[in-house]
Amino acid sequence: MTNHKDVVTTHFDNYASNWHERFKNHAFYLRFLAVKDFVIDKQIYGKVADIGCGTGDYCQLFSPEDYLGIDISPKMIERCKNLYPDYLFEVADGDKLDIKDKSINTVLDVAVIEYYDDPLPHMIEINRILEKGGNLIIAVPNGSNITKAINTFYNDLINPLRRILGKKSHKSHSKDPRVEHRSKTFHQMKELSNVSGFEIIQHSYVNILLFPVFHHLVGKLNKKISSMISRKNTWKWLTKYSSTISVYEFKKISDTNKK
Ligand SMILES: C[S@@+](CC[C@H](N)C(=O)[O-])C[C@H]1O[C@@H](n2cnc3c(N)ncnc32)[C@H](O)[C@@H]1O
Repeated sequence: MTNHKDVVTTHFDNYASNWHERFKNHAFYLRFLAVKDFVIDKQIYGKVADIGCGTGDYCQLFSPEDYLGIDISPKMIERCKNLYPDYLFEVADGDKLDIKDKSINTVLDVAVIEYYDDPLPHMIEINRILEKGGNLIIAVPNGSNITKAINTFYNDLINPLRRILGKKSHKSHSKDPRVEHRSKTFHQMKELSNVSGFEIIQHSYVNILLFPVFHHLVGKLNKKISSMISRKNTWKWLTKYSSTISVYEFKKISDTNKK
């Protein structure tokens, strides 16, 4: 049987040639700006491990001597090396890192944990390499977004029923139906941090979709208006249930001592 990590690796190998271009897309760019806010405004520096770095675009926030980009997809890492030749990149599984205990000050983990059935072993590995008090920044699809709730409803209830009835599943977000995006609510992230030695310091919601439920009906207009208001403070009240992405800053408060 194919291992799930092999499925994810092949999936992202196939995205490697054009992932960097996606970085300019509205939602991806807003995610970058939200991470940048946490990194630059709070002056988070030191040794940085960017786990699941994709095409390595977040390296631009750090100096080459402090940064290490890691990805399970060899094609992504090949692309990183072409795009950012001054920076260091390695192919590795984010759950088994060849990095010394407590030797890293900051970990970036942008759009990675949604590919895990259970992200706890991954969080424990991050805990192992981070110094106490070190920062962890995670971006993950926002599980409180109304659209996500509808997807969960389809995935957990309607799709199994449709399969029993011999009908096709409601369409999945991903090209490969075996690669799901598991979104997380604030509550789920808090629970995850509690069991892996972290504390949430701050979080933000990114990329408002004004009409998340009716996006397919008012797609272009929705995107246009939403992009105008996404980073405006006056519209912050709208964010929790309408944003597609959430970004968290954690601090490591204790060792987990688990392997
Ligand atoms: C959605 S992309 C995000 C890339 C980048 N962080 C960004 O925001 O542009 C997820 C990345 O995580 C990588 N990834 C998934 N599981 C991983 C694992 N166990 N170890 C290391 N990288 C992993 C994938 O290969 C992919 O490049």
